Amino acid sequence: MKMWSGRFRQPLDRDFERWQRSFPFDQRLLAQEVAASRVHAQALQKTGIISANELNAITEGLAQMVEKAAVSPGFLDDDGAEDVHHFVEKKLVELIGETGYKLHSGRSRNEQIATDLRLYVRHATDQARSEIGDLIAVLLVRAEQAGGAAMPAYTHLQRAEPVLVAHWLLAYVEMLFRDLERLADCRKRTNLCPLGSGAVAGATLPLDRRSMAEQLAFEAPTSNSLDATTDRDFVLEFVHVLLHLSLHLSRWAEEMLLFSTQEYGFVTLPEKYSTGSSAMPQKQNADLLELARGKAGRIAGDFNTLVLVLKGLPLAYNKDLQETQEPLFDAAETMLSLLPLVAGWIQEVKFNYTRMQEAAQSGSLNAWAAATYLAERGVAFRLAHERVGNAVRLCLEKGCELQELTLEELRQFSPEFEQDIYTRLSVESVLALHDVQGGTAPARVKQAIAEGKRKLAAIREEVHAHA
Ligand code: ARG
Repeated sequence: MKMWSGRFRQPLDRDFERWQRSFPFDQRLLAQEVAASRVHAQALQKTGIISANELNAITEGLAQMVEKAAVSPGFLDDDGAEDVHHFVEKKLVELIGETGYKLHSGRSRNEQIATDLRLYVRHATDQARSEIGDLIAVLLVRAEQAGGAAMPAYTHLQRAEPVLVAHWLLAYVEMLFRDLERLADCRKRTNLCPLGSGAVAGATLPLDRRSMAEQLAFEAPTSNSLDATTDRDFVLEFVHVLLHLSLHLSRWAEEMLLFSTQEYGFVTLPEKYSTGSSAMPQKQNADLLELARGKAGRIAGDFNTLVLVLKGLPLAYNKDLQETQEPLFDAAETMLSLLPLVAGWIQEVKFNYTRMQEAAQSGSLNAWAAATYLAERGVAFRLAHERVGNAVRLCLEKGCELQELTLEELRQFSPEFEQDIYTRLSVESVLALHDVQGGTAPARVKQAIAEGKRKLAAIREEVHAHA
């Protein structure tokens, strides 16, 4: 039996019927649909619409359904189910008889799908937070292992200054912490319960909304029935956070792709996560990185779809909203499957510290430090900059580094140079010079790692409490 056929004289066009069904994709929401139905049934019993026995039968039927779905995947093969809501009703009636039809008293699929999606997003949010936490943990371990190793930092993709490898890794840790914060923030707005909102104006029975919300571990019931049945902001926000995250991962992937080329040679690709070429026997391709970069485009597409579906929708529920499901599922599943792979990759990748160190020592990356040396000796910085620039020019002509110029040569540019300039030009001294909070001086980086660990432990505790 359909959920709405009474007023119709003609059957649906067969192609249209098949085409408008959401069950092929919203069957992912079975667990959420059952959980929400269970608490609705309890609220119904309190109103007296169903008896205690009927409540038991319904609860039992719903539990059986979850079991059957878990043990036999064929249980979900149902061409006749319009959507997950219809499926649950059909199966319930198969399992417990006509009492199953009583479950839909005083509720609408509009509030149900809104509730199911909130439960889905909340769960996916917590999964994403836990996986991002694991990824940050791996980055922190790699940062600790990197110790005092240095590498060039780039601006404009040109070597700029030396930094600790750990400092560079911590840059990604920061991005991921922001993503965690965004997830925690949008979780608050997701965690409200639409049950009892009805089709658009509120339930037609005096359902205990607070109790339903509590039983599903929502913070509170939603405040307005029109908004609650049509709101998909939480979907958009969640996918937006995933988009941010995917941009971070794609920037990381791009850097790794560059660093793994023979031209850089900073990292050696883990074979476990690479593939070969069917034509060129020597090739080792970093498919994981390229796919990670590509997935950002895919998630941006999902986000865009959501924006365009929601744009201009009048209140309240419209069937267009069904189109918000697939982009949500796609973005969530794409990201949740990618994160552990990225963590695995980072755990396995080999950093070629010698090569990184060499690169950090050439290209006059200590020029700013040299100019700072002069500034400390009273030379106006602009003039110091100019003089060191002239010295760099000489280095370029001679094919050497600043520290390879003699003191006489250096003094031709600026008489303030003394013998101690040479100790100031070493990579270690240049690193130590950046001794500000957030800078690359080793002591600061050590602090940053400790701080990162503290922050991560606190977040993991919170995520654990939600699980
Ligand atoms: N499958 C529908 C969706 O995803 C469920 C809600 C149907 N509501 C309705 N009034 N037709 O949006």
